[in-house]
Amino acid sequence: MKSRQAGLGVALLLVASLAQASVTKADWGKTAEGTPVQLYTLSDAEMTVKITTFGARVVSIEAPDRNGHQADVVLGYDSVAQYEADRSTYFGAIVGRYGNRIAKGTFSIDGTAYHIPLNNNGNALHGGPGGYSTKVWTATETANGVEMTLVSPDGDMGFPGTLTVHVLYTLTGRSLSIRYSATTTKPTVVNLTNHSYFNLAGDGKGTILDEVLMLPADRYTPTDALLIPTGKLAPVEGTPFDFRKPTAIGARIGADNVQLKQAGGYDHNFVLNGKAGMHLAAQLYDPTSGRTLTVTTTEPGVQFYSGNFLDGTQHGKYGVSYAKNAGLCLETQHFPDSPNEPAYPSTVLRPGRTLHSETVFTFGTRQ
Ligand code: GLA
Repeated sequence: MKSRQAGLGVALLLVASLAQASVTKADWGKTAEGTPVQLYTLSDAEMTVKITTFGARVVSIEAPDRNGHQADVVLGYDSVAQYEADRSTYFGAIVGRYGNRIAKGTFSIDGTAYHIPLNNNGNALHGGPGGYSTKVWTATETANGVEMTLVSPDGDMGFPGTLTVHVLYTLTGRSLSIRYSATTTKPTVVNLTNHSYFNLAGDGKGTILDEVLMLPADRYTPTDALLIPTGKLAPVEGTPFDFRKPTAIGARIGADNVQLKQAGGYDHNFVLNGKAGMHLAAQLYDPTSGRTLTVTTTEPGVQFYSGNFLDGTQHGKYGVSYAKNAGLCLETQHFPDSPNEPAYPSTVLRPGRTLHSETVFTFGTRQ
């Protein structure tokens, strides 16, 4: 009996060590200002993920298709210089201090008004022009991954309080977990997300229009023409925003619908039905390769962005230029412009409290 238990123990250890991701680090050049940048590679029997300290960005994710063939399923670049030059796509980045939009870049906390530099049609997007996607983060290797840390000083891009942010990337089997934590020295607003563009057929392999999406959301936040939410939580029922049953993204993207027209496709926050703890945010399926992606999160919303502003001027890792809809984002988050919408879940973080948030991207296959 004892030896059987010992045998089981050895077997479990073996399985555990097989599941363990290896983590390696390489120099990856310098920013224009001369700050050295690193590239971390997390690799296990199933997948390989590359993450750079520039913007704490996911650079590549290799995942198998239904025949076991690996392909890189996120868009991105070969070099820091290319990431630095591109101020509009946010490929793979951690965006903050406030991901998504703040109307007119202005909000108040406890009666004091704050102003964020405007970088999107008179509004602030993804933390302003010098947001977290443009910073070089400090990396620490962990057992199965890498932790990125950024200390964002008081007044950084107009936001109050020094914010210390940790983003822990962990690879386990076919799951990439992103765990966020943050503390502040003054009351501030925080909305952190990852801005990866997925294409389950592979980076540079056409558009995502035939990929099939499911979003467990009865409601979404309609916007004005500049993509600022109107404050309403509108039902998806009977609209092209109803993804409660898996639907090809291209099936209704061209519908005669003012919300789709003003965004040039999908670029909307969905109010997730799941509430406490980890809940489902999205499921994506590519019929050609059989790859699937399941997204779970602790966040109340997900911005589904169908890559509408990609216009062929971005030349990606594999020498392919990214046309409109070459990739899609599933940005788990609090709702856009929450600092100006008291009815939305609050994004205020106060000293003495720690923000915790987690999102897991799990890859799989189907026939
Ligand atoms: C977010 C926004 C989009 C677009 C992209 C970056 O997803 O909602 O409108 O700005 O970032 O290009």
